[in-house]
Amino acid sequence: MPQKSMDKIMALAKRRGFIYQASELYGGISGFWDYGPLGAQLKKNLRDAWWEDVVLDPCGGRPGPNGEPVRIVPIDTSIIQHPRVWEASGHIAGFSDPMVDCRETKQRYRFDHLMAYAPVEGREPAPVLFAFMPDTPSESKQRKKAEKAFGEPRVVPLASIPRTEWDRVLAPDAGKPGTLTEPRAFNLMFRTYVGATASEDDVAYLRPETAQGIFVQFKNVVDTTRVKVPFGIAQVGKAFRNEVTPRNFTFRSREFEQMEIEFFCHPSEAHGWYAFWREERVRWWRSLGLAGESLQLREHERDELAHYAREGAGTSDVEYRFPFTAPGFGELEGIAHRANFDLAQHQEYARTSLEYFDVERGELLPNGSRKGEKYLPHVIEPSAGLDRGVLALLCEAYTEDPGRASPELLLLSRRLAPIKAAVFPLVNKEGMPDVSERLHAALRRRFARLGLIEHDAKQSIGKRYARMDEAGCPFCFTIDGQTLQDQTVTVRDRDTAQQERIAIDRAVEYLEERLARV
Ligand code: GAP
Repeated sequence: MPQKSMDKIMALAKRRGFIYQASELYGGISGFWDYGPLGAQLKKNLRDAWWEDVVLDPCGGRPGPNGEPVRIVPIDTSIIQHPRVWEASGHIAGFSDPMVDCRETKQRYRFDHLMAYAPVEGREPAPVLFAFMPDTPSESKQRKKAEKAFGEPRVVPLASIPRTEWDRVLAPDAGKPGTLTEPRAFNLMFRTYVGATASEDDVAYLRPETAQGIFVQFKNVVDTTRVKVPFGIAQVGKAFRNEVTPRNFTFRSREFEQMEIEFFCHPSEAHGWYAFWREERVRWWRSLGLAGESLQLREHERDELAHYAREGAGTSDVEYRFPFTAPGFGELEGIAHRANFDLAQHQEYARTSLEYFDVERGELLPNGSRKGEKYLPHVIEPSAGLDRGVLALLCEAYTEDPGRASPELLLLSRRLAPIKAAVFPLVNKEGMPDVSERLHAALRRRFARLGLIEHDAKQSIGKRYARMDEAGCPFCFTIDGQTLQDQTVTVRDRDTAQQERIAIDRAVEYLEERLARV
């Protein structure tokens, strides 16, 4: 399959009002994006699909490994939590990347990402080594300089060059060597202050994940609802990370939305639930149209595992082959067995027992009931990125077809398409607009909860179809001269560009049938 162009996808996303650069009027702000009218609706449709398939009808009724329906309840917790939450979770001590600064240009770089051009082994030591960030303009710029200095260069990680030799290293954007500082830990959490005094005692953090809000309310949910383990708590919401190198459009942003499930189970059942969620989450992404070889499930190697996941069943990523990662893949969702790490930490830091009393376990008593068992549940966490999901769907849907009036179109699934249908009068006169407006109103009344229904009377009909193809709209209804005689309309199918004629009073039913299919 030919490689899709990220530049073209980004241009279409802007042109059709899916995604804009945040604060573009002021030159933009790195790592932040805004969703335009179609993007906001597409994002809502993906969020709603997750909510329906996770909270309202978990897993489409598929039973869990215990043979029972999967139970999940929703929650909506604050972005700002007590700062001790982030001490307990390990984010204050551990949520950091090693960074080096350039004293000359004031640029900051991820130490473990920096590479350098050095002479091939056995050659004279070079007076200068040329550091660069892969996949940025510094890579080719520094390579040219290195070729001039010592012919065909060798690429080495900056970390492999002893610190004593750093006075010879030319930083990626610097004019003279020796300007890089020692690596230092840089915390990815955004800091803010709660209250008016803004002293160090008032420091708070914007949450870097929605998960911790769930863990700290676990006890309240158990005490105030009828849930029983195994069950999950689900949350969708914003998360913030001061990423050092935000890049690849919305893929690595500083403000993004997560869709997370923390699924609590008995420790002895964690392996079964982990296997279940791995399979279920891939199945879900496939059901939305991320089919074929561009989607994969990858089990983490032992040395990749987060500190809380080392002893457990493992961690897997659902990955998509984005145009900027191809032929490799980028993470869309992580599924981690977090064991009881988070509940144990909060239990210790808050000095409150978070143990669960399971009345269905423990020794069988003579009266037929069970003695019960107290334990800290284990957690399986399927954690997905909403913005990355939207990006993957846009990349997957983007299609070039030079044979069409719209050589670029979006083959979005009917469930997710932001515009569900458009209604056009063939010409903006001869009584056609009256009929098209009535049909538009009828369709809107019936389908508004699913997405947008557009009405457009401007430009040639070919241009209007092309515009809707680019927006990913699956159906266009056109009122023409014949409509006024026999009360029929044409319906054009985006995927085939074919038209058929149906009775106008069947239009609602026609759309209903088709939108019910993916
Ligand atoms: N609670 C676990 C957790 O937060 P994560 O792998 O760091 O795990 C989960 O994040 C998901 O959030 C990722 O799979 C990704 O889709 C999304 N995500 C993480 N960082 C992101 C960023 N900087 N920009 C956009 N999405 C991001």
